[in-house]
Amino acid sequence: MAAQKKRTLKAFVGVLIGILMSNLLSSSHFCRSGVEREASRPMQLLDEENRRAFNKNLLFVGVITAARYLDTRAKSVYDTWGSEISGKVTFFSSEGSKSDYVPLVALPFVDDSYPPQRKSFMMLKYMHDHYVDHYEWFIRADDDVYMRTDKLEELLRSVDSRKPWFIGQTGRGNTEEFGQLSLDSDENFCMGGPGVILSRETLKRVAPHLDHCLQELYTTHEDVELGRCVRKYAGISCTWSYEMQVIFYHNQSGESAFSSDLKQKEVHRAITLHPVKKDQLMYRLHKYIKGLNIQNLQQSSLLLHRDIAASMDELGHQVGGLSQVKLSQSLPLFPAKRGAPGYLGETSLLGVPTKLNRYTPRTLENVLEWEIVSKTLYSHKDLNPRRRIGSSLKEGLGDVTREIMELINSYSKQRGRVIEFKDIFYGYYRVNPIYGVDLILDMLLVYRKYRGHKLTVQVRRHAYVQQTYTGTFIREINNSHHLLDRHYSSTEPEPIHRHIINQIFSKLNVKLPPLSKSSTNNKTNINFILPVSGRYETFKRFLKHYEEQCILQGENTSLYIILYKNESSPEDFTNSLRLVKDLNFRYQQGGVRVVTSNDTFTRGRALQIGVELLQNKDLMLFIDVDMIFDRSTLERIRRNTVIKRKVYFPIVYSLYNPKFLNEYTNISGSTQGIIDETNGFWRQFGFGIGSLYKSDYIDLGGFNLMISGWGYEDVTFYDNVVKSGLKIVRAVDPGLIHVYHNVQCDEHLEVGQKAMCLGSMADTMGALKTLQELFLKYKTLFR
Ligand SMILES: *[C@@H]1O[C@H](CO)[C@@H](O)[C@H](O)[C@H]1NC(C)=O
Ligand SMILES: *[C@@H]1O[C@H](CO)[C@@H](O)[C@H](O)[C@H]1NC(C)=O
Ligand SMILES: *[C@@H]1O[C@H](CO)[C@@H](O)[C@H](O)[C@H]1NC(C)=O
Ligand SMILES: *[C@@H]1O[C@H](CO)[C@@H](O)[C@H](O)[C@H]1NC(C)=O
Ligand SMILES: *[C@@H]1O[C@H](CO)[C@@H](O)[C@H](O)[C@H]1NC(C)=O
Ligand SMILES: *[C@@H]1O[C@H](CO)[C@@H](O)[C@H](O)[C@H]1NC(C)=O
Repeated sequence: MAAQKKRTLKAFVGVLIGILMSNLLSSSHFCRSGVEREASRPMQLLDEENRRAFNKNLLFVGVITAARYLDTRAKSVYDTWGSEISGKVTFFSSEGSKSDYVPLVALPFVDDSYPPQRKSFMMLKYMHDHYVDHYEWFIRADDDVYMRTDKLEELLRSVDSRKPWFIGQTGRGNTEEFGQLSLDSDENFCMGGPGVILSRETLKRVAPHLDHCLQELYTTHEDVELGRCVRKYAGISCTWSYEMQVIFYHNQSGESAFSSDLKQKEVHRAITLHPVKKDQLMYRLHKYIKGLNIQNLQQSSLLLHRDIAASMDELGHQVGGLSQVKLSQSLPLFPAKRGAPGYLGETSLLGVPTKLNRYTPRTLENVLEWEIVSKTLYSHKDLNPRRRIGSSLKEGLGDVTREIMELINSYSKQRGRVIEFKDIFYGYYRVNPIYGVDLILDMLLVYRKYRGHKLTVQVRRHAYVQQTYTGTFIREINNSHHLLDRHYSSTEPEPIHRHIINQIFSKLNVKLPPLSKSSTNNKTNINFILPVSGRYETFKRFLKHYEEQCILQGENTSLYIILYKNESSPEDFTNSLRLVKDLNFRYQQGGVRVVTSNDTFTRGRALQIGVELLQNKDLMLFIDVDMIFDRSTLERIRRNTVIKRKVYFPIVYSLYNPKFLNEYTNISGSTQGIIDETNGFWRQFGFGIGSLYKSDYIDLGGFNLMISGWGYEDVTFYDNVVKSGLKIVRAVDPGLIHVYHNVQCDEHLEVGQKAMCLGSMADTMGALKTLQELFLKYKTLFR
């Protein structure tokens, strides 16, 4: 992202300088003590722990809590920001409070009553008596506040702590309160909720008088009274600055504050956030802020990579070869190589400066195409060129504009103006697979000048933005669900994912551990239930496929064929029977059974016949004779079907009419390499193929057997599963392929039905692209 975070950068450089200094110090120490050190020893970055140790005496935070919140709010503060401050945090509660977890002071003669005037004043006194000479700053905090410790530190380091300071969100009470607070018109106080900061000097001046102030309370408002005391004895008031309303952010929604979306400019700009009423929300907020910090660090790292690349360029080094460069004989520019700890990233990619042509296409196909966003999205990549802007893109654009506005407004104060975002007129974007996303935005902004000649105008500005990829990270998730499933003792990725992961890892030269024995040897039996009526040739293909994929591979499967006598082709029936007989003769243990029926065919009833042959604990797969499959599908069926928990309804890939397929597509072999845009489509609305345990099928009430012919029994069944407590696993299954078969539309159908039949025939005929090409080729024929 081109939007630079100057502040973070400064902080980072500060840290870096700190590190350099410490390195110099420690090496001189070593020299004096006569220990030899190699000149080429790489500079070590300090970990967070040590970094904080350098600033241990910056601030002391006193958190006001109560006995009943020690295990919840107090703990959550201590687990999150409380333990990250550059100094010390201590919790203050009533007399007799105890905690094994948080550092606690149980103040004598103090109870947990509200408002906590006495607790607060006694806490300040305690801070003074024990720590006033150890820390520069003192914070009075509540247990429902979140503080961004890095930003807080940055703020405090920019202020002279030797002077008296009383910093916080300025309050004057609302109009009706104002009279009762006994404040003069030029007087204020720092509101307690979002936290109050006192410099050492302030605390020193106020501390001797705290007892006195406590005896002379005008109101029950603890923060108002503290303000009064500070004004009287330290001679200062709470900082009068509009900025403080932003830095010390208080949300009005009470209990539900910070429970919804945190991606808001208020959250991003604040240093302290209040109120966080539940400990879960505290952890959530902390995680979110950590995410922001990671982003900022990645941004800084990116800028450093660019600086390095630019500097090395001046020295005559190509950006592509930087990983090999040596600064001197034994001092490589990047000591840690890829894969090693401390590796800093690929400068040859990350260091490339931002410009619209940082990627140069070599061929026409490699030219990156732009898409247009305005009120809707215009894209050539879909058959429907004009679409709704999806939620991910919307969120992405929101992020980008927020960052742009932060950047634009980072100098607002100095320039006496503020610029607000109104709208995006239109924008172009493209995704560059190597470097990231390019964006060109035409934005409507409102420019408000509040200093000098005051002015409000609407302006349009173009923004050129590049979001840069920062590298690939792989995390293995320990899916404890699988541990619970008794069928799977293994938590490893399934073979198809493994295949992809292996490809990635082989590029990174990392080897995955082999699949454990338990997951390859012990496989639940899958009972195929296959209704057949006529269609001998197709049945033959299915059976051959079953033989190759299951029997010959020693898969733990059984096949139940429900064979119907089809009046129109009786020879299909006998041929099919012969085929099964022949198969069973060749494989004694093949596990293929056939049940015949004279009835008129309905798919639901046929499947029901199959189900009745099984036991309650059996795993069943409803399948069609048009399908071909590979063994990875069997693995997915086993993984995604869990008794009493999950039912698997794969989305199958449906091939187009072979006449319109890619000439290289070979469907008689395996399913490998078939799936692409021209060969077929994913049958989003097909629910005929599914797997579940028989006991779950029974609990669901089974199929509706009143439906005749092909159709709808699967949809109604799917509906039942949706309504039940079972989880549906619905995902594309690249190993399950439906082969095209001719649909005949009866000439005698009524007009509406015939139109529908022809329509669905056309849908499955061929890819629109293929048909379009044919049309263009044989245009004259269509005249
Ligand atoms: C702050 O409060 C407002 C309503 O008062 C609410 O709409 C908003 O979502 C809150 N912000 C956060 C971050 O919780
Ligand atoms: C996965 O989680 C379980 C239970 O939480 C734990 O016992 C196991 O050690 C974890 N495995 C790995 C590899 O982290
Ligand atoms: C195989 O799995 C079943 C449960 O599906 C289990 O009862 C059995 O002990 C397992 N056998 C082996 C050898 O792991
Ligand atoms: C086959 O499946 C059955 C039932 O799911 C199971 O008991 C049996 O152990 C499996 N056999 C093999 C060889 O995995
Ligand atoms: C099918 O019909 C024939 C006579 O038409 C009868 O002999 C046979 O038993 C029937 N089979 C079944 C399974 O109903
Ligand atoms: C298609 O695949 C089958 C089985 O793998 C093979 O026997 C056949 O020769 C292939 N056909 C073509 C045209 O490649």
